[in-house]
Formats: sequence, structure tokens, C-alpha cells
Amino acid sequence: MKFQGSSSYVATQDLMLAVNAAITLKRPLLVKGEPGTGKTMLAEEVAQALNMPLLQWHIKSTTKAQQGLYEYDAVSRLRDSQLADVDGGERVKDIHNYIVKGVLWQAFTAEEPVALLIDEIDKADIEFPNDLLREIDRMEFYCYETREWVRAKNRPLVFITSNNEKELPDAFLRRCFFHYIKFPDAPTMQRIVDVHFPGLKRDLLAAAMKTFFDVRGLPGLKKKPSTSELLDWLKLLLAEDISAEALHTKEDKVAVPPLVGALLKNEQDVTLFEKLVFMQGRNR
Ligand SMILES: Nc1ncnc2c1ncn2[C@@H]1O[C@H](COP(=O)(O)OP(=O)(O)O)[C@@H](O)[C@H]1O
Ligand SMILES: [Mg+2]
Repeated sequence: MKFQGSSSYVATQDLMLAVNAAITLKRPLLVKGEPGTGKTMLAEEVAQALNMPLLQWHIKSTTKAQQGLYEYDAVSRLRDSQLADVDGGERVKDIHNYIVKGVLWQAFTAEEPVALLIDEIDKADIEFPNDLLREIDRMEFYCYETREWVRAKNRPLVFITSNNEKELPDAFLRRCFFHYIKFPDAPTMQRIVDVHFPGLKRDLLAAAMKTFFDVRGLPGLKKKPSTSELLDWLKLLLAEDISAEALHTKEDKVAVPPLVGALLKNEQDVTLFEKLVFMQGRNR
């Protein structure tokens, strides 16, 4: 099992190394990086390249570790017991009918090896990663209601992503292989754009890339635009048929680009940009 990148996803050499290292070590791959740098997509692409089904668990602030294992649906059972004559009360007698399996249970008991994505783990509360330590390490857990151990038939290939909103506990980090997806440099970004817009005119691409990296380089931005923002913006430029000339800035000065709302996502950043353009205009 080796991951070599794919035709729809640009993986740098060090990213491929990290994926293969995690596979070799049989440890979860913890991927950090700015939002929009392809963390979620990485799991999808690796699963596809290795021909494995992908189970996804998208974490929210309210997600509890237990939900990934299983949940006992006591309410349904109570209701069924009150309507016991439905099927002679057979269903109610077996507690298995009221265990709702979570993604980890599904991943552990799948017939074939699967990939498992735990997406945006930093969204959950601080105890969440610690609550999953044993499950991720030993690949087993105990179901109290049915009194059974659920053990992984095949070790799933685990991807964990984080946008770095919270620090993760040391005990958890020890069990992962870590990779930080650096923001793509210009040549890598060019390859990513090529994947999404193969026939893009070279002059438009060059002008758009320059504007994009200018905007990103602006000191003091609250939210720097990332890969997905550049792709959105390019899509709009194409849809609106905006020419490379409209993006060209005179004498290397910045100008507010058309459809800037695709790149800058809050009013302070737009104001900052406009101020800069205004000051340059006066200095001329
Ligand atoms: N290396 C890459 N190759 C191809 N497309 C990419 C790459 N990185 C990011 N993208 C694009 O950016 C979008 C956002 O990626 P995503 O995986 O959702 O980011 P994250 O999970 O890091 O926030 C993807 O849908 C994809 O279109
Ligand atoms: Mg994501």
C-alpha cells in the first residue's frame, strides 16, 4: 500500500512521505494546516487511491467520543415496549436492536480494510481526544449494554485533521504521526489550479496568482485567503469573463481586485486593503 498522489489532488513529496509513514507505522495521520489547504480532501483521495471505503466523522463542538463508538437508543426501546403487540414484542427483547453503531464500530467491524476520517478534531472539547486514546491505540472498546468487546478485524487507516484552533493533549499526539500542510508555494499552487482549471489562459492565471499572493502577503490580515478561496475566485473570474488586463496593477501597486469578496471574508480586511490602495494613490 503506497500513496503516490492522484490526478485530482496535488500532493507534495513530504505529504506523500507522511501518508506512507503513517501506513507503515499503523498510526493515525494527524494533519494540521490552515483551512482550505486540502486536509479533508487528502483523506478522500488516499482512500480512493488505495481503493478503500472512507468512513467520515465530522466533529462539532458538541460531539462526544461515545457517539463515535455507539449510542443506546433507550427512548425507542421504551416506546416499543409500550407498543409491544406490534411484532409480539420480539424486537424489544433484544437489546442489539437499540444499539446505534458509530463510525468507529462500523470501521472496526467492516469486512474489508477501511479508511476513517475524524475531521476537525479541534472543534470538540478538550477531553474528546483523550476519550478516544484507547480506541485509537488498541483498536477495541467495550459495549456495556450488550456486554461485548468490539475489536478491529482490520486496522483502519485513520486520518485526523485539525485547523489548530485548540492544542491537542500530549498523550494523544504521542499516538499519531504528524504532518503540517504548509501553505502551497507558487509553483505548487499553480499545479493545484491546473488540476481544477486545466485550460486556463496563461496570462489570466499569472495575473490572478500575482494578485492572490499580493493579497495574502498583506500584513495584518485577519483571515488570509487560502487555496479554496483562490479556486472560488478563479471560477468567478471565468464566469464573469474578466480579462487578465482587468487584474493588472500599474507600476507594481496593489489595486482592489474584482470580486474581492471571494478572497477577503471580513470587513476589516477589505477596509485594510482599500486603505492601502488609497494611500498608494496619494503617494503617486
Ligand atoms: N493539494 C490540492 N490539490 C487539489 N485541490 C486542492 C488541494 N488543496 C486544496 N484543494 C482544493 O481546496 C478545497 C478545500 O480543501 P479541503 O480539503 O476542504 O481543505 P481543508 O479540509 O484543509 O479545510 C478542495 O475542495 C480542493 O478543491
Ligand atoms: Mg476540512
